[in-house]
Amino acid sequence: MAIQTRKSLGAEVTTAVVPAGVLGDAFGRVARDLRVSLTDRCNLRCSYCMPAEGLDWLPTDDVLTDAEIVRLIDVAVTHLGVRKVRFTGGEPLLRRGLAGIIAGAAGLRTDEGVAPELSLTTNGVGLDRRIGELAAAGLDRVNISLDSLDRQRYAALARRDRLPDVLRGLAAAAAAGLRPVKVNTVVMRGVNEADVVPLLEFCLRHGYRLRFIEQMPLGPKHGWDRAAMVPAAEILTLLGEHFEFTPAGQRGSAPAEEWLVAPADCHPSGRVGVIASVTAPFCGACDRTRLTADGQLRTCLFAHTETDLRGPLRAGASDTDLAELWRGAHLAKAAGHGIGTAGFHQPARTMSSIGG
Ligand code: 5AD
Ligand code: SF4
Repeated sequence: MAIQTRKSLGAEVTTAVVPAGVLGDAFGRVARDLRVSLTDRCNLRCSYCMPAEGLDWLPTDDVLTDAEIVRLIDVAVTHLGVRKVRFTGGEPLLRRGLAGIIAGAAGLRTDEGVAPELSLTTNGVGLDRRIGELAAAGLDRVNISLDSLDRQRYAALARRDRLPDVLRGLAAAAAAGLRPVKVNTVVMRGVNEADVVPLLEFCLRHGYRLRFIEQMPLGPKHGWDRAAMVPAAEILTLLGEHFEFTPAGQRGSAPAEEWLVAPADCHPSGRVGVIASVTAPFCGACDRTRLTADGQLRTCLFAHTETDLRGPLRAGASDTDLAELWRGAHLAKAAGHGIGTAGFHQPARTMSSIGG
């Protein structure tokens, strides 16, 4: 994208010239990756995400219907250059029409003339029973959240005793050929550091691609404490005591810094990723745009403003109107999340209602 600098009232003003048909912003980034939250509800209660009693769920009438979701994905893919769509939640498997939504998205064509790449971020509970239907509908890949392999610790962390279900979901995703099956682990001090090594050994043995994630301030209010977050550097030190690994190359717009792990007696070679969202933000290369389950457009996980697409959609806006609204909102995408800066405050919505 072209960046232009001009003089205005004696000051230099830099503007990005965003080509038609893409989602660009003032910092020259182009969004190709749409994250769609399909519901804010979840069948688990991970402590970093939700309070034990759950949250005030969105009213049913506010939540987009399956057809409305497919329509907005169509606008993004057909009119705005989006090439990848990730379905998230809450827990997207709670959405009964999920396979239909995936099939609708799989029928679209990107500006490159192919179906968008479709992936799902899930806690894995019940995935074994749904995976056949989802793969047949056109799902390409899954990311499964797993923070411990110890049943008691998992149950304490997710506040539900569902580890065996998650492990069945993982195996089913691999058996269905949705490779690489990715596993996401949020590392928390004093909670699951002991799981870091066993989780990587387990994932290497099964051929799952594990990524450790720094905990972000997106859970229950006041539930985040920088000191309790285990920074990427510390995760790498911990891994270095047990594994031999080398950098796997440049990460591009992918959030995970990837490492190649050498084989050992108890595991084959493989890869591991570390997502340093807090200590090494990748905002400068961000290619995301986000849609919440109630039809609000967000340019960033940490944005404080949203743009309502549901209202105009229900009032009869055309695809072109919706695309223009989306483009206009995206132009104002902030440079970065600013965690750790003086002015930072957590957004009103938590991760479960934004979508990870
Ligand atoms: N910080 C980092 N990751 C989080 N996730 C949920 N809440 C947080 C948080 N506060 C992760 C989940 C899941 C993905 C959607 O995001 O573990 O893997
Ligand atoms: Fe549910 Fe994911 Fe939040 Fe855990 S992190 S409670 S699985 S939405």
